[in-house]
Amino acid sequence: MCGIVGYIGKKQAKPILINGLSRLEYRGYDSAGIATIEKSGLKVVKNKGRVNDLSNTKGINSLEGTLGIGHTRWATHGKPSSTNSHPHSDNSKNFAVVHNGIIENYSDLKEFLQAHDYTFLSETDTEVIPNLIHFYFNSSKQKDNLRFLDAVTNACKMLKGSYAIEVLSSMYPDNMIVVRKDSPLVIGKGIDENYISSDIPAILSFTKDFYLLNDNEFAFISRTSIDFYDSNLQKINKACQNITWNATAAEKDGYPDFMLKEINEQPKAIRETIGSRISKDSKTIIPDLNLNKKYLNTINKIYIVACGTAMHAGFATKPIFENLCEISVEVEAASEFRYRNPIINEKTLCLFITQSGETADTIAALKLAKSKGAKTIAISNVIGSSITREADYTVYTHAGPEIAVASTKAYTSQIVLLAIIAIYFSEILEKNSTKTIELKNDILLLPSKIEEVLKNTEQIKNFAQKIYKEKDVFFIGRGIDYSVAQEGSLKLKEISYIHSEAYPSGELKHGPIALIENDVTVISVLTNRLLVEKSVSNILEVVTRGAKTFIVTNQELNQEFDEVIKIPKTNTFISPVLSIIPLQILAYYISKEKGLDVDKPRNLAKSVTVE
Ligand code: AGP
Ligand code: GLU
Repeated sequence: MCGIVGYIGKKQAKPILINGLSRLEYRGYDSAGIATIEKSGLKVVKNKGRVNDLSNTKGINSLEGTLGIGHTRWATHGKPSSTNSHPHSDNSKNFAVVHNGIIENYSDLKEFLQAHDYTFLSETDTEVIPNLIHFYFNSSKQKDNLRFLDAVTNACKMLKGSYAIEVLSSMYPDNMIVVRKDSPLVIGKGIDENYISSDIPAILSFTKDFYLLNDNEFAFISRTSIDFYDSNLQKINKACQNITWNATAAEKDGYPDFMLKEINEQPKAIRETIGSRISKDSKTIIPDLNLNKKYLNTINKIYIVACGTAMHAGFATKPIFENLCEISVEVEAASEFRYRNPIINEKTLCLFITQSGETADTIAALKLAKSKGAKTIAISNVIGSSITREADYTVYTHAGPEIAVASTKAYTSQIVLLAIIAIYFSEILEKNSTKTIELKNDILLLPSKIEEVLKNTEQIKNFAQKIYKEKDVFFIGRGIDYSVAQEGSLKLKEISYIHSEAYPSGELKHGPIALIENDVTVISVLTNRLLVEKSVSNILEVVTRGAKTFIVTNQELNQEFDEVIKIPKTNTFISPVLSIIPLQILAYYISKEKGLDVDKPRNLAKSVTVE
């Protein structure tokens, strides 16, 4: 995820672009860059680091042009570096492109272009785009403006993945083309000037009139006109909308908080994390891992080490590795692991999960495992973060920046990525092909099932209004549902400051049930068909003692309970991706009812870089 901005008008573009980029910096700040059309042609100025650093970058002072595009990057492919920064140009330096998103088939496209003598400077997926545009421009039969548009539409037809793109060309000094698919982009209409941005607030001070592009709609923009086309160069009519939001609401895409925005971004986060790694009929591909059968056959133990929510993703996925790969797995808190001299050798494979890639305990645990001869794999959401420099291999979740302290979309993306890694190992080891094929199909269906879960918030909100004053809440579940209970309990604690405990349902009778009395809330997760009866018996044990019950389930229950939240059925191994969502939403609304700061709960920090 990154921020993109554009300007075409009569004013100098540079300050407008830099201003827009600073407002979009929350979307990523690995590097920043702008391209403008000058009297001498197309000029690109870019650098690693913050938008602020752009003002000191060589060449910036000479940019006088009144048309330009800008980018603040959150790297997904290729480390944060000056060369990988956007804008990217084609080999002829006639086109410049900024891109937000991921081109999943960029390796194939790169090969295609290399076969046509194109060369590449960066490690990004983006650099194929300007070169494809150049390729199709040369072969286009169209004339004038349509030739530029034809080149861009044809290039986009080749792209798989997500993109919001702005294109400039030195041959069209009075135009730019923009397009989006699954990444945000808006166009702000002014008088004799137009603005482009990833979100509305970055340009809300310039205009309140917006065109909101749909997927695969192209806009051909001049100072005085905006023409919309579909990918077959047919004109489309679009209505301009007057936006009445205030700037702060708009920064969060209209959501009141980042946490709610991030909860709702989960379908996209999962879609991007799956990317082209798995598909129905072919073998799983994880280019960042090259582990072979000989090596994997030597492994007799996998450790998954992490902190907080990331550790809960480990608990949730331990059964997948054990079942699909038949290797025993231990999941442990990094802060414990690093101080207990664990038994590790070259037959141990260690996975370290960390959204930020900066958690001190997790990095220290990785260093320890490495020093004992284990191979180490980091699972991170932040390209080039500290842990990625230490690990033997890094595989990225593509959840986009997570800003709210309480982790939501990173957790579900971690589970999906770990499931994909388990499938990858199992395919290499040639085990359990029926189970892996089923799981792959179910993973591919997850984004649309998440969308379904996200539609049902009213019932959860009403329940939150009933229980927000409670002092203690219990979460229970069996097997994989217990791991979700742990994460649900952490979410509630973090943002509502209500004391909560998670227990395996069968453990209640060994002690905690003594705490159940009239009106205590017990939240249960119940997704495993094989354990339904046993779990229902445990729930009835607390109901008998007066507990209020909130159940998240994909099963048909014969008994009546206070609140039952139905979620779609899926493969048990990945059910946490769906069953956690009602618990995230519940914690969110309880925190809101209490009037707390959802995004920045007391005493916590987004990345914990101290021991
Ligand atoms: C999650 O809601 C928490 N804020 C916290 O437990 C977090 O998951 C933990 O600190 C680990 O962070 P990391 O994934 O960045 O390493
Ligand atoms: N995939 C592109 C890159 O890594 C764009 C990432 C973004 O959206 O910031 O450069």
